[in-house]
Amino acid sequence: MYIFARKTFFKMKEVILAIESSCDDTSAAVIIDKTIKSNIILSQKNHSNYGGVVPEIASREHQKKIIIAVKEAIKVSNIEKDNLDAVAFTLGPGLLGSLIVGCSFAKSMSYALNIPLIGVDHMKAHVLSNFLDKPFPNFPFLCLTVSGGHTQIVLVRDYLDMEIVGQTLDDAVGEAFDKSAKILGLEYPGGPIIDKLSKKGDPLRFKFSKSKVPNLDFSFSGTKTSILYYIKSEIKKDPHFIKNNLNDIAASIQFILIEILKDKLVKASKKFKISNIAISGGVSSNSLLRSEIEKLKSIYSWDIFIPKTEYCTDNAAMIAMAAHYYFKKNKFVDLNITPNPRLHF
Ligand code: KG4
Ligand code: ZN
Repeated sequence: MYIFARKTFFKMKEVILAIESSCDDTSAAVIIDKTIKSNIILSQKNHSNYGGVVPEIASREHQKKIIIAVKEAIKVSNIEKDNLDAVAFTLGPGLLGSLIVGCSFAKSMSYALNIPLIGVDHMKAHVLSNFLDKPFPNFPFLCLTVSGGHTQIVLVRDYLDMEIVGQTLDDAVGEAFDKSAKILGLEYPGGPIIDKLSKKGDPLRFKFSKSKVPNLDFSFSGTKTSILYYIKSEIKKDPHFIKNNLNDIAASIQFILIEILKDKLVKASKKFKISNIAISGGVSSNSLLRSEIEKLKSIYSWDIFIPKTEYCTDNAAMIAMAAHYYFKKNKFVDLNITPNPRLHF
């Protein structure tokens, strides 16, 4: 078993190295107690030509980058490997090959340094990104987690006590952004490009459909299909339709996707009578979502919590923050653990 006797320089402080490798960002961070000391993110640019993340390329890139990311995270934090009390990694959900790289690396460090190993739920970590910078939300709060693979409304009762109360029945909202961008011939990931183009466009120019979904669940595939069919039919009339109307199309797509998110978030807040509202995940860096949440804050007297952009997309700082709470509860995993691409809390 693990021996907790390695404190030398950082007496009484808990030092954790965290690794995130669930998709196409290789990231490593160090947290000392509750303070992030480093957050190195090495993004992979190799996927843009393929219109999406290619799993095989992603795992090979993680292999090339993981040592660089970990070394840099340790160096920037001004610590030595021997100061570490635990090593954490993303257990899932994510791409199996990508997860295996982070998991194997973390296991070898845990074994070599004889320190505990922590397997972190990536989706819980997105929620906990709201504790990386003050002000922190009070419990209970609702978190809208919006990424390339997930769209969830999470009822958060405590740091690790969370319940998914609404989720997408088909595509994730980030996926809807990316697939719509692909229809427009834009590069992957299309979400940030649509966001940028929308700033010069009219969001009410084109009307796309919104699926009626019961309860707090979401659906985006109908909206995506309505965008595809509308654009195809307009191109038949004018082959330059996309080029001539790009900003307005982007703004109209962004408008409808954010409307769908807003509707359900307001419904959830009313249902649970909770006015502490947080957002997280890659799409939470979207400028319209951020400004609309600010508007909802004044209408409904919400207290809102929005992580800084660096903490919205995948990063190891959020894995480190989650690991801090796993550590407090002695939630460790054995060296025979295998990652779970479909991990679900
Ligand atoms: O959380 P994340 O980095 O990775 C996953 O766990 O999926 O989210 C990536 C997603 C992509 O779909 C990307 O297009 C979207 O977040 N995204 C955005 C913006 N920035 C990133 N979508 C809309 N507007 C943005 N500004
Ligand atoms: Zn993510």
